[in-house]
Amino acid sequence: MRTLITGANGMVARAAKEYCEKIGDEVAALTRAELDIADEEAVRARVAELRPDAILNLAAFTDVDGAETRIEACYAANVAGVRNLALAAAEHDVRFVTVSTDYVFSGEKDGFYTEEDVPEPQGIYAVSKYEGELAATEANAEAVIVRSGWIYGSGGTNFLSVMHRLLGEGKAIKAISDAFGTPTYAADLARRMRELAASDFTGIIHVTNAGDGTSYSGFANKLAELGGFDRELIEEVSGETLKRPAPRPRNSRLATVREVKNLGALPNWEDALKRFLLSEK
Ligand SMILES: NC(=O)c1ccc[n+]([C@@H]2O[C@H](COP(=O)([O-])OP(=O)(O)OC[C@H]3O[C@@H](n4cnc5c(N)ncnc54)[C@H](OP(=O)(O)O)[C@@H]3O)[C@@H](O)[C@H]2O)c1
Repeated sequence: MRTLITGANGMVARAAKEYCEKIGDEVAALTRAELDIADEEAVRARVAELRPDAILNLAAFTDVDGAETRIEACYAANVAGVRNLALAAAEHDVRFVTVSTDYVFSGEKDGFYTEEDVPEPQGIYAVSKYEGELAATEANAEAVIVRSGWIYGSGGTNFLSVMHRLLGEGKAIKAISDAFGTPTYAADLARRMRELAASDFTGIIHVTNAGDGTSYSGFANKLAELGGFDRELIEEVSGETLKRPAPRPRNSRLATVREVKNLGALPNWEDALKRFLLSEK
């Protein structure tokens, strides 16, 4: 397959490039400098030039707190960018797979959010991602929208991705004990996106590692257990004490009610965490 990956310097994009190359794809992985997805003409020209079989959109404005003040930049990538790619894909009959977020939900529900729950995004980043979903389906009826959450992986700069390094260096960390999600290893998400590109699935699908999910402190404690780190370094705090600019859902655990032929659940999150730790050694 000829696969175009956007946002190539990003965490999930790098995992996608590695996976797609491993399975023999001809990969064009374009960084923001090489393709700004907010630039409609540039997107059109690139897709026409490369004629990929699939586009995996991993470019996004992902600074959740920064989005509260950088609204225009956030919307440019997360709404206009997604629309531009979805349109170009439709024009050239290219499979289009883009990523959305668990943050489209308010977090007030107990239990798991499925594709049948109604989004109620809070905060600029969350609203932009939801509008990106709407833009994708409006521009391209065959678009695949993968909602995921609590993603971590090699090269990631978010808390879940760097915790093991901090603990390994003997640094104390504050981990929220009252926010719950379903952790997702970037490598597993990347594989599933490529599998969905090769399938005939269209619409929204939730993709996370399997299991009951956890809190940030649950994740930290599991890391300490698996990596042999000192648990005393983990201070459990309430999310409210961190006083972050953007709201976050208290519970954004995802589950899927969609069935895709030949695609089962991803591995359990604890198994995925073991593989991540091994890959970081
Ligand atoms: N990380 C999570 O926990 C999480 C949870 C749910 C959903 N997601 C979604 O998963 C996807 C991948 O996230 P990630 O964690 O891999 O993000 P990431 O590491 O922040 O990577 C995003 C990449 O997109 C690039 N980018 C930003 N604006 C762009 C534009 N206009 N044109 C082209 N590239 C642009 C960024 O480049 P610069 O660095 O130069 O800006 C960066 O390299 C995103 O859609 C995100 O919303 C992430």
